[in-house]
Amino acid sequence: MQFGYFDDERREYVITRPDTPLPWINYLGCEDFFGIISNTAGGYCFYRDARLRRLTRYRYNNVPLDFGGRYIYLRDDETGLFWSPSWQPTRHEAEEYFCRHGLGYTVIGSAFRGVAAQTRYFVPLGANLEVWQLTVTNQRDRPLALSVFSAVEFCLWDAWDDATNFQRNFSTGEVEVEGRVIYHKTEYRERRNHFAFFACSEPLAGFDTQRDTFLGPYRGWDRPLAVERGQSFNSVAHGWAPIGSHHIRLHLAPGESRQVVFLLGYHENPPGEKFDPPDSQRINKRTVRPVIARYLDPAQVEAAFEALRAHWDRLLSTLQVETPDPHTNRMVNIWNPYQCMTTFNLARSASYFESGIGRGIGFRDSNQDLLGAVAMVPERARERILDLAATQLETGGAYHQYQPLTKRGNDAIGSGFNDDPLWLVLSTAAYLKETGDGSILDEPVPYDNQPGTEEPLYGHLERSIRYTMERLGPHRLPLIGRADWNDCLNLNIFSEEPGESFQTAPLKRDGTVAESVFLGGLFVLAAREMAGIARWRGLEEEARRYEAAADEMARRVLEHGWDGEWFLRAYDAFGGKVGSRECSEGQIFIEPQGMCVMAGIGLEDGRAQRALESVRERLSTPHGILLHQPAYTRYYVHLGEISSYPPGYKENGSVFCHTNPWVMIAETVLGHGDRAHDYYQRINPSAREAISEVHRCEPYVYAQMIAGRDAPTFGEAKNSWLTGTAAWNYVAVTQHILGIRPTFVGLRVAPVIPRGWAGFTARRVFRGVMYHITVRRVGPGNRVSLRVDGRPVEGDIVPLPPPGTGIVQVDVKIGG
Ligand code: BGC
Ligand code: NOJ
Repeated sequence: MQFGYFDDERREYVITRPDTPLPWINYLGCEDFFGIISNTAGGYCFYRDARLRRLTRYRYNNVPLDFGGRYIYLRDDETGLFWSPSWQPTRHEAEEYFCRHGLGYTVIGSAFRGVAAQTRYFVPLGANLEVWQLTVTNQRDRPLALSVFSAVEFCLWDAWDDATNFQRNFSTGEVEVEGRVIYHKTEYRERRNHFAFFACSEPLAGFDTQRDTFLGPYRGWDRPLAVERGQSFNSVAHGWAPIGSHHIRLHLAPGESRQVVFLLGYHENPPGEKFDPPDSQRINKRTVRPVIARYLDPAQVEAAFEALRAHWDRLLSTLQVETPDPHTNRMVNIWNPYQCMTTFNLARSASYFESGIGRGIGFRDSNQDLLGAVAMVPERARERILDLAATQLETGGAYHQYQPLTKRGNDAIGSGFNDDPLWLVLSTAAYLKETGDGSILDEPVPYDNQPGTEEPLYGHLERSIRYTMERLGPHRLPLIGRADWNDCLNLNIFSEEPGESFQTAPLKRDGTVAESVFLGGLFVLAAREMAGIARWRGLEEEARRYEAAADEMARRVLEHGWDGEWFLRAYDAFGGKVGSRECSEGQIFIEPQGMCVMAGIGLEDGRAQRALESVRERLSTPHGILLHQPAYTRYYVHLGEISSYPPGYKENGSVFCHTNPWVMIAETVLGHGDRAHDYYQRINPSAREAISEVHRCEPYVYAQMIAGRDAPTFGEAKNSWLTGTAAWNYVAVTQHILGIRPTFVGLRVAPVIPRGWAGFTARRVFRGVMYHITVRRVGPGNRVSLRVDGRPVEGDIVPLPPPGTGIVQVDVKIGG
């Protein structure tokens, strides 16, 4: 069952009924100002940091679902009937309803009793505000007297404090209303130099800024008193709950359309120029007025929207493909890179499942997110790598996250995850191969942001590798620390305290025994990347040392990390096996199978092949590949959070989508195109659209997990949008299945596609040059013969063309 359809031409997903299984959201903004917006106009916005600079309030886990939003009420002033064109909050049954989620914008509209209304929401490039463009049309055959009310509820900036500190916050709220603009200025009197504004293009019939006056006693957003009676109260908030609501009256002739623009934005003044006049407490509006005037001008708004479209066209033109499979095309060309940009921008901070107050920018997460975005935004990727590296510690370890506003690392969501530093090597290698910009390696970067500790980035990478080499356990495999990629495999925590966070609880063991085979595989991959970087820098000796370290670790993995038919997951704090046929539960885990084969371990002696066979036999399901089997049916204190989840959910045996592309890549390493693409398709959101009533999350983006077969809701997705799944699937399908992969010396084209595909075409911008790639299958297998601009080239790498080249024609024959 579907709740909408893809409009590929316009790069939109069109939702055709408002009561989707869950709010299906989109993101506004791609620089400093962001919003999340659901298909019924729910959501909120913030400046840079979803916790510390939240503009509007949102009620997570509310009933009814999805409250707090960008609300518009229309009221027929003849009859007093009122409704919301975005369905929420009044939930009137509209005659027609649609929500078009596009790239960086959303349009929601409906028709009700002969009044059509639609609102386009977007954040212009370079602006710290969102535009709501409301168009109302009188479809009746008689004149219409209409009241329009807007409504947003302001958040008192720090979203955590806002949701908890009522004894203070009920007394701090302050606003100013001047002309058609409502200013929210709580705490502006003291240490803040920023405020929010909510402006309207039309003259006001009234306004409200005090929530409970607007709503009326004990009423909800579905039935505000001001709207019901058809007249605002002109309330001015002092304390309690400041809101912004404009009231305007429109008279529309039959067939007439009118546009109303609302702007909701953020503005800062220099600390010395906060007030006007200077000795008053009134906001100095001199610098914000031109911003407001600009975006209330319809021509400027249109131009800003066109610029946004052009921006996304430019980003997506980095890679466009035409394959025989529409789901692959749609995800590769539109939604997957779009989601990659979203994860790159927002890490795990704000979604329908991430409250914005929980997490900042994760070290591990962002390094992986970067893999999916680096080709589109290389300059920003460069900056991100340097920011991340600046939160690395002198030990080579890393803060697990930093706050985007301050860029300072912190331990708020835990520390001591031993995989963290290795991801920095992978992201830097990806950046170098994409751009060829070796200068980043020479950038001086401090440790822990401490001035005076700067060392070239290359030194940070060396320490990352050394960090693992200096932390080995009894089998000389890497010690796991608090956890590795799997945050919930907590072999040193032994938590027995109800509610204690596994991520921050003190380690009960000294951490010298529990080892991770997955980390062994990740180390081999990272050390080989490091060798590649060193060799490219002309440091042959060092390159060999890294290769030797990788080989040595690969040997240990084969010696101590092989269970007979698959790779073990770990050794616990007692030296017992995790992820072994000897275990009663959790016998086989996906992570080491994918990672070790990706790293090239076991390719020579058939163990790689065997491991992937075991994945297919024991872990693969129609809804994707499970994290482990059997799922844990009870809590094991020596395993930690993984066994805290009921079987089949999250880290306890769900289809944890992030890991599936590792197996897809591993299958391509073995040359299995059919298998790789089959796995790709099982979790492909577009391919799952037809079962939206089972999947329940948005069909246009990946979710972190799909409930596993041990769960009663097998196939149900959760935690959509902000997940490493986006970047890794993009890497798997574009670089390994389609096989278009940047290297230091040129663009590799080594497709491992399904047997039944006759070929595909692609356009890829690489280091400023456009590659027109045509792949044709001439026989079975994956052998590549290349012609570049008509001339045969040995191997599968298209060499870098001479400077000044605009287009390179690449013809690839595979198989035969
Ligand atoms: C979740 C993990 C997540 C971790 C982050 C855990 O509760 O299960 O998926 O990585 O929290 O802090
Ligand atoms: C989600 C976290 O953001 C990520 O860092 C982690 O690797 C996975 N969960 C698995 O636990």
